[in-house]
Amino acid sequence: QMRIGVLTGGGDCPGLNAVIRAVVRKGIKAHGWEIVGFRNGWQGPIENLTKPIDLADVEEILTRGGTILGSSRTNPYKVEGGVDRIRETIAENQIDAIIAIGGEDTLGVAKRLTDDGIGVVGVPKTIDNDLGATDYTFGFDTAVHIATEAIDRLRTTAESHHRALVVEVMGRHAGWIALHSGLAGGANVILVPERPFNVDKVVEHVERRFESEFAPIIVVAEGAIPEGGAEVLHSGERDAFGHVRLGGVGQWLAEEIADRTGKESRAAVLGHIQRGGTPTAYDRVLATRFGLHAVDAVAAGDFGTMVALRGTDIVRVKLSEATAELKTVPTERYEEAEVFFGA
Ligand code: F6P
Repeated sequence: QMRIGVLTGGGDCPGLNAVIRAVVRKGIKAHGWEIVGFRNGWQGPIENLTKPIDLADVEEILTRGGTILGSSRTNPYKVEGGVDRIRETIAENQIDAIIAIGGEDTLGVAKRLTDDGIGVVGVPKTIDNDLGATDYTFGFDTAVHIATEAIDRLRTTAESHHRALVVEVMGRHAGWIALHSGLAGGANVILVPERPFNVDKVVEHVERRFESEFAPIIVVAEGAIPEGGAEVLHSGERDAFGHVRLGGVGQWLAEEIADRTGKESRAAVLGHIQRGGTPTAYDRVLATRFGLHAVDAVAAGDFGTMVALRGTDIVRVKLSEATAELKTVPTERYEEAEVFFGA
């Protein structure tokens, strides 16, 4: 009887439990496997932290956010003897293969472990949607949905008070959440990490929007940077007190706008709200399909691969392809949004 390990690594995201449920259901029902959960990402196999998962354990988790297995950003290649300890855990628990659900870091480890002779199949996860080789990752649709709802709400209060409202969304390296929630929420400016922004231009858009008697909404990705290298603290960085910041560029920009326009301006940082709670129907379906196809990949012994969405099909790609480079917002996609700036 095959024993398959499952783990979730990196930042959590809505839909992880839906993947676990699909893996367990199909693994047990179609193949008669035993499924062993590893706790807290790669920390689980390194420290032999296991949690057997049966059919009963995946009842009622489809709609639940987070991950029943816990997560961490542990990298076995950065832990003394990490890979050897994984080998020991695998031998001790008689694990035949591992399904690793994660983003760039988790899947980068999955690739290296496969190269080192450990059979791993990857499932792409990130709210940032910045993984290569797949059209979408689950969690992204949910994050965009939450951000869009927030923009809708911030718009009504901005209108009442004739203020500019800067909405800071997640995305350190890629502006997908900003682009999509900005388009869906009818933002008047969208700023992404891929393109350093010109504050004068932002101010122009804001003033034009105020002229029309409507309040400007500016959506900014947490990793967006102003042209000219102004000193801006970003989310995740440490401030003067040594505290890890949640938000930074949004507040900075709101103050610049207030100073330069003389109008009131406020910032809202959405932060981890974008990662919590129940997944959208789209993400539940995508996560479920990824889980089912990951089981097929293991059954076929097709290790070193990742399941991916291409159009409406789930396909298998090499982990090396998926982790080769981040998928950022292309210029053409940004230019589509620019048509609405200031308007
Ligand atoms: O990768 C997911 C993500 O939510 C990013 O959008 C964000 O920059 C980062 O994780 C936040 O990390 P943490 O949860 O460790 O603060």
